[in-house]
Amino acid sequence: MLALIEAGYDVEIVDSFVNAKHSVIPRLCELAGRDLRVHEVDLTDRAATEGIFADAAARAAAAGRRLGFDAVVHFAGLKAVGESVAKPLAYYDNNLGSTFSLVEAMARHGIRHLVFSSSATVYGDSYPAPFTEDLPTRATNPYGWTKVMIEQVLRDVAAADPTWRVGLLRYFNPIGAHPSGRIGEDPQGIPNNLIPYLAQVAVGRRAELSVYGDDYPTPDGTCLRDYIHVLDLAAGHVAALDYLWDATEPVGTWNLGTGHGTSVLDMVAAFSRAVGSPVPYRIVDRRPGDIAVSYADPSRARAELGWVASRSVDDMCADTWRWQSANPQGFPDA
Ligand code: WQD
Repeated sequence: MLALIEAGYDVEIVDSFVNAKHSVIPRLCELAGRDLRVHEVDLTDRAATEGIFADAAARAAAAGRRLGFDAVVHFAGLKAVGESVAKPLAYYDNNLGSTFSLVEAMARHGIRHLVFSSSATVYGDSYPAPFTEDLPTRATNPYGWTKVMIEQVLRDVAAADPTWRVGLLRYFNPIGAHPSGRIGEDPQGIPNNLIPYLAQVAVGRRAELSVYGDDYPTPDGTCLRDYIHVLDLAAGHVAALDYLWDATEPVGTWNLGTGHGTSVLDMVAAFSRAVGSPVPYRIVDRRPGDIAVSYADPSRARAELGWVASRSVDDMCADTWRWQSANPQGFPDA
C-alpha cells in the first residue's frame, strides 16, 4: 500500500480484520503521511462489497471521474497451509467466495484491472527448482488449490471479456518488515512460518525454534526457500499495475522471487547476525508436506516488468528484527 502511494496512486483499503489489528491503520497513516480510507468489510459479503464500489462510484461521479476505482490489488484470503488442511471448506468458501464477490462488483462498475496475490504453492512438489511460470500448476494443500483455482477463474473471466487486464503474482517466501520498524508481520497465535517464529524466539516470546528436519537432499540437510523482502514484493505489485495499463494480453503471470534458495539453518544464522547473538534451535522431525527445494526463475518479471528483487537475506532479517524488537507483542490490541 505504501509503495503504491509512493508511486503516485491514491489507495483505499478493504480488510475484514480477521487476521489484522485495527492499530495498524494509524501507523500506516503515519508512514503514508496522510489519512487513508479504510472499509472494514468481509468480501464474501456481496452486499457490503457492492456498497464499497457504489460509494466509490458516487464519489467519482461527484468529482467528474468515470470510475470509482481504476484498479484493484487483491490480497484478501486465508493463507495458513496447515489450517487449510484442517478446514478446507472454510478456505474454499473464503478465498474463492471473496474473489467471486470482488470480481462481480468490479465488472458491474466497469473496473477491469486486477493484480492478484497468488503463490509459489501452485507449483506443488512435482518439479525441480527453479520454477518457471509455464509449469502446470498442481497444489498439495487446500490453500494452494485455492490459488490454482482463483488463477483459473481470472483467466476464464479475461477470456470471456478480453478488456480485462489481470496480473497473477506468484509470491515465493515473503519476509521482512518496513525499515521504520513501525509495521511488520504479526501472525495471530503460534506462527506457522519460519521467520515470524524465529523473531518471536529472538525476542523471548518462544523458547527455541524447531527446525523441521535436517535430512533433506540439500547442502546442509535443511530445506531451501526463496525468501523475498516484502518491500521488493511491494515493488513487484507496482511494476505489475503499471505494466497492465498498456498490456496487450489480458493476463500476465509473474514469479516474485529472488531466484536464490536459502536453507533454514542459513536463515537461523542470518537472523542471529541481525540479533547479535545466537537464536536457539533444535532439529526435530520433518513437517509433513514440506518440499526440499523451492526457488523462482524470476527472469520473466525482469524482462517484462523491469522488476528485480534487490534486498539481501541480511536486509530481510535486520528489518524483521527492528520491527520485532520494537514491538515484542506485535501491534497493540486496541
Ligand atoms: C519455510 C521453511 C519449514 C517453521 C509458506 C506457505 C505459504 C507461502 C510461503 C504465500 C520450511 C521450515 C518453518 C518452523 C521450520 N506464502 N520451518 N520451523 O512452508 O515454504 O511456505 O510460505 O503464499 O504461506 O506455503 O514457508 O516459513 O512455513 O517454512 O523449520 O517453525 O522453514 O520446514 O523448510 P513455506 P515456512
